[in-house]
Amino acid sequence: MILDVFTLFPEHFEWFGRQRHVSNVLAQGSELRFHNYRDTTPLSAGQVDDAPYGGGAGMVMRVDVVDAALEAAYGANRSAVRIAALAPSGRQFDEALAAELAQEPRLALLCGRYEGIDERVVEHLADDSISIGRYVLAGGELPAMVVCDAVMRKLPGALGDAESAVEDSFTDALAGAPEYPHYTRPATYRGWGVPEVLLSGDHGRVRDWRMEQSRSRAQH
Ligand SMILES: C[S@@+](CC[C@H](N)C(=O)[O-])C[C@H]1O[C@@H](n2cnc3c(N)ncnc32)[C@H](O)[C@@H]1O
Repeated sequence: MILDVFTLFPEHFEWFGRQRHVSNVLAQGSELRFHNYRDTTPLSAGQVDDAPYGGGAGMVMRVDVVDAALEAAYGANRSAVRIAALAPSGRQFDEALAAELAQEPRLALLCGRYEGIDERVVEHLADDSISIGRYVLAGGELPAMVVCDAVMRKLPGALGDAESAVEDSFTDALAGAPEYPHYTRPATYRGWGVPEVLLSGDHGRVRDWRMEQSRSRAQH
């Protein structure tokens, strides 16, 4: 898989690229590429934004700047790329969407800044608009990392033990419910015990208990 991140701040991703599951995936042949809008802007002096039509505070990232960045990366043929703009108002990102995106051979994430990106990017250039939650961050870089993290976790070779992701929260294995709780040694700490069933050695009971815990968490 190739993940292309379009951003004004590629350096923000230096830490992210060093995360174990990310470097594991990259070692398996996937790629994480960064495209700085300023490198390909058709405007002078590295301009990427402009004042909003209709007035109001802040600046808006221009559609021609985003288009030029996509053109430089893909040429005229963008049909093989799933292009997603990051926006607070977009489709809520969740585990199902992460699984869907992980099937794509090439995914582009468009990070906005300032007041956001000219809406014509969503209307005409992007396939999706994705939100990581109903709150506003200063830019699309953290949302892009969230999306890349969740997607890359699903790629072959990401995790030391691929089994550990099979029953993650919200997966089909748990019928979309949150995961059950985990406990480890010591069995008693400051008087706090662990559920007896987990110490029983009875795999059937453990399995039933976990499924029940997962179901009950789905109701909260
Ligand atoms: C300051 S925000 C723009 C907020 C916009 N004026 C609004 O009220 O919806 C700048 C950029 O950060 C990114 N961003 C901020 N919060 C986000 C979120 N919850 N999900 C996805 N992207 C987000 C988007 O790329 C957005 O274009």
